[in-house]
Amino acid sequence: MNAAVELDREVLAVRETRDFRSYQAFLRAARTHMEGALVAQMRDSYDAQLAAAGRSEPETAPEAAAMLERLPEFQLYCWYYRHLQRFKYSRPDLGIVDTVNRERERVIRVLDETAAQAGPALRLDPALEPPEYFRMVDFHQHPGGVAHDPLDGLVYEIGRRTTVPQHADPNGIYRLLFDALPKERRYARVLDWGTGHGQALITWQQLHPESECHGVDLSAPCLKLAHRRAVEHGFRFHLSQQDLERLDYPDAHFDLVFFNFMLHELPPSHTPALLREVARVLKPGGLFAGHEFHLRPGDAFQNVLQRSHAWTNNETYSVPWYSTPIEAIARDAGFSKTRVEPFERLIKSIPRTGRRAVSNSWWNLYVFEK
Ligand SMILES: C[S@@+](CC[C@H](N)C(=O)[O-])C[C@H]1O[C@@H](n2cnc3c(N)ncnc32)[C@H](O)[C@@H]1O
Repeated sequence: MNAAVELDREVLAVRETRDFRSYQAFLRAARTHMEGALVAQMRDSYDAQLAAAGRSEPETAPEAAAMLERLPEFQLYCWYYRHLQRFKYSRPDLGIVDTVNRERERVIRVLDETAAQAGPALRLDPALEPPEYFRMVDFHQHPGGVAHDPLDGLVYEIGRRTTVPQHADPNGIYRLLFDALPKERRYARVLDWGTGHGQALITWQQLHPESECHGVDLSAPCLKLAHRRAVEHGFRFHLSQQDLERLDYPDAHFDLVFFNFMLHELPPSHTPALLREVARVLKPGGLFAGHEFHLRPGDAFQNVLQRSHAWTNNETYSVPWYSTPIEAIARDAGFSKTRVEPFERLIKSIPRTGRRAVSNSWWNLYVFEK
């Protein structure tokens, strides 16, 4: 292998000082406490309020919310959710944005040079108008959103290390999804629906070297990093900057379209058109599959926590997502079979001494067949 190619495969990274790493590890530990011991303690206090009122469960969701809002544990939980993300990204000196910015010129140069050599492996569209819903929100508090600055892809990638604390390896979540897909099928051509910085595609290609891998996203900075990561791994993806609602692929093109952390980010008014477009580009019998967080049926306590993320973490469209009739929409869009089931392997249970365990989150697995 010649020196230029060798250099090209060098992993693009910024220098992380020991202070940066310890600070980010502290934030991650705080998040683990927030989603574990703090939730268990909150549930104890909530149960005590119910016991004092001689009841086992609140009668309505607003009643559960009113009970929780009185608890200091819930107030702390919301404070944590809001501010751990802000500290992680935006603290001067130890935040991710500042750390990445310190090597701004070099990172942009490497991303741009790699992109310039990509040819059809990376199709960017500077004229693409992102939909209004995307421009209006700094999703999960990423400063300015994931598509406004050339460094957004790298900031997002580093930020994911502390987003899902129960997974020491933030990419384990993709393996869990892929492991849940039917094994007997052939996945010759796949699309990562909202690929971000492309990590799910990397994981997919490692497991399925035979697949032709495509990824679509609105964010050019994320796609440039996704392309860079593909080159570093010796993979060749087909990445393009498009709106998922209007894809330029021909009909019946893919065997599988998969998604991660997507449905809660899209306003329900767009969901029917988005799913019609997925159905159009899938081959007959092809699958649209992914995981997504949701409310836990019949668990008023957990659902107050789940809804609170909408305002604490700028998950603006998550509350309407919870009442979106996704299976009916999928059938109208052209899917013949729909399956939605709890994704047990992602649902973390928090033990409590002498009491029933509680959970802080709830995930479903979605598998729709055309
Ligand atoms: C929460 S991120 C998930 C990214 C990736 N799936 C992952 O696992 O990290 C949502 C992604 O969807 C992209 N996105 C949102 N709306 C989109 C649309 N209409 N068309 C294309 N991409 C979109 C965003 O730019 C962002 O990268």
